[in-house]
Amino acid sequence: MPIYHTLGSVPRKRHTVFRKPDGGLYAEELMGHEGFIGTSSLLYHTHAPTTVKSARKVCTVKWEKDDDTSLRHRHFLTARATKGGSPTINRIPLLFNSEIGMLYVEPDKVDEHFYRNSQADEVVYVVEGKGVLESVFGDLPYQSGDYVVIHRNITHRWRMDTAAGPTKMVVFESRGHVRWPKRYRNDFGQLLEGAPYCERDIRRPAQLVTHDEKGDFPIFVKQYEAINELVLDHHPLDVVGWDGYFYPWAFSIHDFEPIVGRIHQPPPVHQTFQGDGFVICSFCPRPYDFDPDAIPAPYNHSNVDSDEVLFYASSEFMSRKGIEYGSITHHPDGLPHGPHPGRYEASVGQKFTKELAVMMDSFRPLHVAKQALAIEDPKYHQSWIEGGSTPEGFSPPTS
Ligand SMILES: [Fe+2]
Repeated sequence: MPIYHTLGSVPRKRHTVFRKPDGGLYAEELMGHEGFIGTSSLLYHTHAPTTVKSARKVCTVKWEKDDDTSLRHRHFLTARATKGGSPTINRIPLLFNSEIGMLYVEPDKVDEHFYRNSQADEVVYVVEGKGVLESVFGDLPYQSGDYVVIHRNITHRWRMDTAAGPTKMVVFESRGHVRWPKRYRNDFGQLLEGAPYCERDIRRPAQLVTHDEKGDFPIFVKQYEAINELVLDHHPLDVVGWDGYFYPWAFSIHDFEPIVGRIHQPPPVHQTFQGDGFVICSFCPRPYDFDPDAIPAPYNHSNVDSDEVLFYASSEFMSRKGIEYGSITHHPDGLPHGPHPGRYEASVGQKFTKELAVMMDSFRPLHVAKQALAIEDPKYHQSWIEGGSTPEGFSPPTS
């Protein structure tokens, strides 16, 4: 994250004496990407972060792919997904390859354990819900519409406000470092004037809460395709200060400034994040193309070298246009897709769209997870045929 940030107390010089009120030394820890050369932060712990009392493997987390690999467009309805459980342990895998996984969860219980994903950066799109992401870097409030980016290895807990309503999350787990698109930044890392968001839109941990407490504190660590339990002898959120470029942050889809044109703009104008082998884009309410002869609906296209996945995130858009809120469409590389019957013509002269959608394009083919089959609309691939079978009223836009 190319914004320097600091909270709490840090010594004037790094790697120098920094004493606690009792005269002992605070325990300094460097945390960052790619060892010592990526973005990093220096944290100052009340207790050494290494005091593990016990370690065990809790379970394997192996995503299994659908045995039926026949090529076709797919459609999944998250409204039918199993509800409840933990925001970290009960995620349902839907689509994945070796670089990116897309999962869904509607958790209803705040974890008793802390959690960190040590094999992936996480981008969590909060469809519904609000609360606070607590971490070693402090408290980060979140609400619906937020992308919460949790870089790998950050110990955290989702403190959901369950009284405020249900929580629904789309989770992306990325093997590579999630970052802003390079073309949005200048040589110094600053976001350019022409980028669809700026540094003011990036929300960082706002309050550091230091817990100086001894006891047994389990941390569930995802590593080696498994959940491992490490029990610390002290509360892991014991940091009194930190500074650097590595921390969790949030960006609201509602702060994305859409780029529009006289005629149709291609999906890259909606790009929000860059990963290794994938991008994430935000389709937000915006005026349509303003040439009188413009066709706002996207043209048919063969997304060569790319699988396109769209999550339809607006309940309002659903009620107005018959789109199912929570639908996920998967348009794989190898066959074209485009507007559904009638939508191409119907879009001519339209002035505005209220759509809200999150798109993930992977550059290598995605596997459908076995768990996704339970929520699949099996006839979606025929929905371009006049009179073809789709869920009632379903007429999705296309990216
Ligand atoms: Fe598309």
